[in-house]
Amino acid sequence: MDEITIQENGQTLSRVYFGRDVAGVLPHLAAFRNVLLVCDEEVLPYANALVDASAGQPGGGNCRLLCSVRTSEAGKNMDTVLGICCRLLEADADRDALLLAIGGGITTDMAGFAASIYKRGIRFAFLPTTLLAQVDAAIGGKTGINFLEYKNMIGVIRQPVFTWTCTEVLRTLPRRDFVAGSAELLKTFLIDNATDSYADAVSLLARIRQEGLQPVHEPQLLRLIAQAAAVKAGIVGRDQFEHGERRLLNLGHTFAHAIESLALHRHVDICHGEAVAMGILLAARLSEALSLAEPGLSERLAEDWKTCGLPVDIPFPITEMRSVMTKDKKAEGGKVHFILIRKIGAVCSRELEVSQAADLLANNNAI
Ligand code: GLY
Repeated sequence: MDEITIQENGQTLSRVYFGRDVAGVLPHLAAFRNVLLVCDEEVLPYANALVDASAGQPGGGNCRLLCSVRTSEAGKNMDTVLGICCRLLEADADRDALLLAIGGGITTDMAGFAASIYKRGIRFAFLPTTLLAQVDAAIGGKTGINFLEYKNMIGVIRQPVFTWTCTEVLRTLPRRDFVAGSAELLKTFLIDNATDSYADAVSLLARIRQEGLQPVHEPQLLRLIAQAAAVKAGIVGRDQFEHGERRLLNLGHTFAHAIESLALHRHVDICHGEAVAMGILLAARLSEALSLAEPGLSERLAEDWKTCGLPVDIPFPITEMRSVMTKDKKAEGGKVHFILIRKIGAVCSRELEVSQAADLLANNNAI
């Protein structure tokens, strides 16, 4: 699979391209006169390489580094976004510009948001450099920032022109980030396992955990990333603005956002993918408490998580998570659409009071 289009009612919203290396994005940039790169400072060499390579191309030189950003959940805020807007203004960026964000989900979320509000919106594209961003954050057009202690509280849904996904960037990704990103990959196959990818993903992730990411793993990994992207693209095309089906992609996220908010506040080091892994386990236990899940589901998932190196212990008591979840941006009148798991490949949404979900988990000693 080289390309996926995200289609809504027959119209192309966005494209996702797959390849081996960063340089493979260049042909997709050739059509744009003015490409401005916003890059996570950790992966700046990729941006510099693209600027140099574009200068060497016939009729090239269309790529310029606009700025690098230091990324953290605390720094995913309006100041950073306005900083990017200032750079766009200084660079005289006009409606013909394409902003290319290079980095993980924090970079793509902030740069996509900056591009969406600057001059009421310019075009943007993503080159995600983390597994998490490749399978989730950089697809589907959710962009934005954290606000007060709440994750992704301010933002818009606006689609990138394209997302370029390649395995080269994963070779140097810190092991912790790679493993954390695998939570979103597995999440996608818990939602839709039509291609039987869940078990393949667990066994590949286990091999990569033991052997490190080797060239021999890359084609299979890229195939799984493309399958996950195809699942997400299908859902986004059917429900771009999250009125129904797209909520399924939030599997584990109500719990995860509570865990992340508490962690941010207390300076506990938990990244998004790790919180999602914990959140999915809680969703499985809640599904069991509601007698919805097939027997043994949460134990199976916990075993798979351990095999892949994902965390299984929840660091905060449910009483503390409860008050944060009530303020989740998706909570309406104290109720949240919890995504529950019947079995691998079958999930459903159920509206529950936060207190009801918290009590069920507490009474079942699920946390
Ligand atoms: N990250 C979930 C979504 O894009 O809908």
